Amino acid sequence: MLAVAVLAAGKGTRMKSQLPKVLHELGSRSLVQLALDSVADLGPDRQLVIVGYGGEQVKAALGDQAELEFVEQAQQLGTGHAIQQLLPVLDGFEGDLLVLNGDVPLLRPSTLETLLTTHRQNNNAATVLTAQMADPTGYGRVFCTDQGILTEIIEHRDCTPAQRQNPRINAGVYCFNWSKLAAILPHLKADNDQQEYYLTDVVKDLSPVMAVDVVDAAEIQGINNRQQLAAAYDALQDRIKTDWMAAGVTLIQPDSITIDPTVTLAPDVVIEPQSHLRGNTTIATGCRIGPGSLVENSTLAENVSVLFSVVSDSAIAANTRVGPYAHLRGAANIGAGCRVGNFVEVKKSTIGDGTNVAHLAYLGDATLGNRVNVGAGTITANYDGQKKHPTTIGDRTKTGANSVLVAPVNVGEGVTVAAGSIVTKDVPDGALVVARAKQTVIPDWQPKPAAD
Ligand code: UD1
Ligand code: CA
Repeated sequence: MLAVAVLAAGKGTRMKSQLPKVLHELGSRSLVQLALDSVADLGPDRQLVIVGYGGEQVKAALGDQAELEFVEQAQQLGTGHAIQQLLPVLDGFEGDLLVLNGDVPLLRPSTLETLLTTHRQNNNAATVLTAQMADPTGYGRVFCTDQGILTEIIEHRDCTPAQRQNPRINAGVYCFNWSKLAAILPHLKADNDQQEYYLTDVVKDLSPVMAVDVVDAAEIQGINNRQQLAAAYDALQDRIKTDWMAAGVTLIQPDSITIDPTVTLAPDVVIEPQSHLRGNTTIATGCRIGPGSLVENSTLAENVSVLFSVVSDSAIAANTRVGPYAHLRGAANIGAGCRVGNFVEVKKSTIGDGTNVAHLAYLGDATLGNRVNVGAGTITANYDGQKKHPTTIGDRTKTGANSVLVAPVNVGEGVTVAAGSIVTKDVPDGALVVARAKQTVIPDWQPKPAAD
């Protein structure tokens, strides 16, 4: 049996934030969520999140995951005190407890698997994830015998200058034999510089305890302040981009590109400079994103291009070209082989295949058929000041430049809307609608001389 506990009760004073530290984000995912993501592959039987400072906020942020059990640590008296709160919850639990710090978000699943395997194969009382750090400042130092048995962990602030020379640090990730841990947990003392109950103190009273060095020290960087948050973001980005390039994605000037961990890309996607892919975004093969685009919570089918544009909460079918300077948002559903071009905004609208909206248009709450041509400057006037209203435009209809379709209104199939029209009533299939003042020409007009 495997239980996982994530320590997420601390305030994170050094973040200087209203938000609990573990709810700060790296690429649209909170730190605590990333910690939980890293254990998913191990298939834990129980998942406990220890909450305290901002507990309601943390619970709300993770609330939709029924498999999580929240354990309250009302006062934050240290990491050992946090794990003491599990004593009643895991009473009688037989198995191992994997402890993660909620502020260590970059662990690879394979690292945790190695930790657990080492722990179980050696029948350890505890196994601690460690790393050799070029700059170990701030971390607890891990001391081992020549035989590789871990004897003690001392917090940076409690170390002598000589002890601080030890580059081996505690990652804040541990495997414990739960019943052995549970037997000594009640006896922790707070005799240290911070007068806190340290989880790290238990290693002195357990045996055997082993250390497992992580291969890539970037994985275990903890986040205590905004600089470390930024450094972890860079490390995560490096990893994500390396993985996507290995999977056949072209990134042009990767340093100028950001990709959230939740994004999925197919081989032969090309991402151009200054482009940002966020949230639950999926991009199919042959797409070309950027330069200068933001795609967020959106699905793009094959061979779509998005040039200098923003696409959020939307779907685009194959071979459609978006941009330059388009804004698709709030459930814009664009068909295949369309053009949505220069200075066009599309909101909560469905557009059929082969339809062009090439210049200076706004489509909101609209449904367009196939092969419609939306002329430059066409606007669906969907808002009457109180409510939004729908517009429908049938297949093959053409709207002239600068036409306004005042919703609710239905324009049929094969309609021609004359330029400059303000359409307020439904138009049947095949009609020409002209809804503008007739041009008046007065010949030989002599302007009146200006009065002085
Ligand atoms: C801890 C370790 C240190 C290790 C480092 C790795 C201890 C005593 N020290 O130090 O050896 O090198 O992590 O990043 O464990 N928390 C609670 N309740 C509390 C206190 C903290 O839930 O009462 C949570 C925090 O929200 C955080 C985690 O525990 O997610 C770690 O706490 P933090 O204060 O950041 O510990 P460090 O000083 O970083
Ligand atoms: Ca920390």
